[in-house]
Amino acid sequence: MNDLALHGGTPAFAQRTGQPQPKIGTAEFLALAHRFGYSEEALQRLAAAVSDADLPPGGPTLSRWITAYPGPPEGELYEAEARAKYGVKHAQAVSSGTGALHCAAQAVGLRPGDEVIVPAMGFLATSMAVALVGATPVFCDVDESLQLDPGGLEACLTARTKAVIPTHHWGFVCDLEPVLAFARKHDLAVIEDCAQSPGATYHGRFVGTWGDLGCFSISAYKITGAGEGGMVLTNDDRLAERALQTAEGGGLWRPDRFAPERYAGELFAGTNYRLSELESTLDRVQLAKLDDVVARYRAVFRRIVGQLGRYAEITWQKSNDPEGDIGYMLRFFPQTHELAQQIVAALGAEGIGAGYRGPQAAPDWHLYSDMYPLFGDHADQCRPERCPRAVDLYNRVVTVHLDQWYSPEDADAIALGLTKVLDAYCTRVE
Ligand SMILES: Cc1ncc(COP(=O)(O)O)c(C=O)c1O
Repeated sequence: MNDLALHGGTPAFAQRTGQPQPKIGTAEFLALAHRFGYSEEALQRLAAAVSDADLPPGGPTLSRWITAYPGPPEGELYEAEARAKYGVKHAQAVSSGTGALHCAAQAVGLRPGDEVIVPAMGFLATSMAVALVGATPVFCDVDESLQLDPGGLEACLTARTKAVIPTHHWGFVCDLEPVLAFARKHDLAVIEDCAQSPGATYHGRFVGTWGDLGCFSISAYKITGAGEGGMVLTNDDRLAERALQTAEGGGLWRPDRFAPERYAGELFAGTNYRLSELESTLDRVQLAKLDDVVARYRAVFRRIVGQLGRYAEITWQKSNDPEGDIGYMLRFFPQTHELAQQIVAALGAEGIGAGYRGPQAAPDWHLYSDMYPLFGDHADQCRPERCPRAVDLYNRVVTVHLDQWYSPEDADAIALGLTKVLDAYCTRVE
């Protein structure tokens, strides 16, 4: 009893002898380099150059909430850079674009029984986020911009409508002004889905900064993004907190995590959409590249489009803002499926890869009538007769994927190939 350290005796475990090793260290760093695909020689040079001994005590951490060394987490820096880039008050990094949309749906308080107007063409994730909070996606037809047709909004409105989600598809922008006017008139929340058009602008301002919230996917499929990630933008403090509570259900964001609700609606069951430090680190670099990526695509797109003519048998995709579109796809609608097939085959022979879906195509989650996971509860919404223009245009559209790295000569060659083919199969109109 007398030799208790509490009473002045020698502490039993005064000093440890086993030296801790970093949980995440050189081996993980090299595994990442291996995943990047560096050559064996480069990996060997890297392995020779780095060791755990060079790491800060405890090693790095790949969660922004475990701060092993001084300095702000990458996630915080990433959000600060996104706020500065988009000129908004709040930017919240999350683990996917779908997560971002779910956060936004929760933020605006969507509940079972509510209805949300979404475009009939886009991606399944938008309507899934609506369904996830128990609300009903109501599909609005598109126009020849392949974006939500503002003229179709009124017909979608019911007493249960609570929000509208204009989606900026495939590097093009939705005609936001009439959508925003409609939303203001009927007191609807506006969530912009910018997953496919980051860096695009509408009337000179970034998409994602017009509505109540802007949602982005920063996944590898998008024009910037390394793996999986997302972002929510808003200028509204309460919406930002509700989005954060959705993404950080564990309350790590709160000044006192366990404090009772500070105002009605602050706390509710959220989930975990945290973005890892690893992804944040890479996405900071990607965000810094965004302007250049967009500028390169725009230059290629404009150079090609500037050389193309007009033809009686095809309609070019309508642009809602030629200055703001990114243009990583060139799209047009031949009058008939037969013509579309001929054009695609002839473009292929010219060396220009072009895609065309056709009426018998396999299901595709970009078209509302194929969004099978929504069927059941929302089967009625997915009827092909509901939005006939979306079905017709999507089946008929010819798509030429463009590359940001095309040289001016490449762009000229593509314009020449398109002109050769369209001149051969269609009638020029001046
Ligand atoms: C329009 C649109 N919204 C949302 C998403 C979902 O993003 P994520 O795949 O990051 O969850 C996508 C992804 O392709 C998309 O195209």
